[in-house]
Amino acid sequence: MSRPNPIRHHIPSGLPFMYFASDNWAGAHRSIAERLLRESDGFAAAYGASDLDRRIERRFAEVFEREVAVLFVGTGTAANSLSLASVQRPGGITFCHSEAHVIADECGAPDFFSGARLLGVPGAEGKIDPVKLREKIAAYPQTAVQHGRATAVTITQATEAGTVYTLSEIDEIATIAKKDKLPLHMDGARFANALVSLAVSPAEMTWKRGVDMLSFGGTKNGCWCAEAIVFFNPEQAKEMPFIRKRAAQLFSKSRFIAAQFDAYLENDLWLDLARHANGMSDRLRAGITASNASRLAWPTSANEVFAIIPKSAARAAEEKGAKFYEWPVPPATSELLGPEETLVRLVTSFATDEADVDSFLRCLAG
Ligand SMILES: Cc1ncc(COP(=O)(O)O)c(C=O)c1O
Repeated sequence: MSRPNPIRHHIPSGLPFMYFASDNWAGAHRSIAERLLRESDGFAAAYGASDLDRRIERRFAEVFEREVAVLFVGTGTAANSLSLASVQRPGGITFCHSEAHVIADECGAPDFFSGARLLGVPGAEGKIDPVKLREKIAAYPQTAVQHGRATAVTITQATEAGTVYTLSEIDEIATIAKKDKLPLHMDGARFANALVSLAVSPAEMTWKRGVDMLSFGGTKNGCWCAEAIVFFNPEQAKEMPFIRKRAAQLFSKSRFIAAQFDAYLENDLWLDLARHANGMSDRLRAGITASNASRLAWPTSANEVFAIIPKSAARAAEEKGAKFYEWPVPPATSELLGPEETLVRLVTSFATDEADVDSFLRCLAG
């Protein structure tokens, strides 16, 4: 990355942080923190009515090359839940990957806010299997009063498994959803990481593929706390101000979310930060691939790495201060794991340095 790593300004050089638990553990990028500070003076209209809120909403239209409706919220869970709530009908079912954050890690919030149910669809490496999706949708026709009816599909980009749907894979899911007139939502908690991994434009990865609603994440990639719901057809967002307010997600000082996005989007900072995070994962991937004792569990291409490492190496790394999660082993991977091995998830962020990665790789080497 050409920019100096801003999070290091208060850290004595040479001290590695081996923080690979989550990109949520990283701080806020300095440009974003400074932008917040600048916004702290003075007065502005509240509840999303400030000039800044309006300007940043228009900025999203430029980023996506079309008119969009944008609603700022405070968490990714809120962005997902309220997007999905906007398209629900009684007895509705939203299809997602079986290990998606919406179904596994949001405590039922999407079901709670929408009154609908999530139903998991399997698929290798975090991606919905299109054949299985077609079967599941067919099992919940619009007349199925007893079982419930299909109402939406959601995919995660980048996925929870660190993989990225290709454009043609998104096309395939969208075609299946559209055949039954089901809106397609994208959980973009790591949207920027997926975007730079595919090297495509925001428009190409979303509405040009048939995505109707996007949870646009900023928090993991350098914001302090900034998420946005983006509707590619603003007509479909008409109920959203009410849905958001009833979910207690209309921030009175919404301009501070707008201010974060102002700095985030300025001069493509968001893309630089994601490129850096992905690059740090590339370094991890290369080091693990070259190692004798550890290996990649499956290929990933954004800022998450899943590795099979000796349990002794995991303990040694933890003792030296490394932070990471041992991960539940997916059925397809279980036979690859020896009795003395463990599966770990390693997440890099805009604040990860080469020294962090190299120190961790040295721990693995023993
Ligand atoms: C794939 C995915 N979606 C959404 C979220 C948003 O979560 P939160 O509500 O904690 O901001 C996360 C956070 O870990 C995530 O990994």
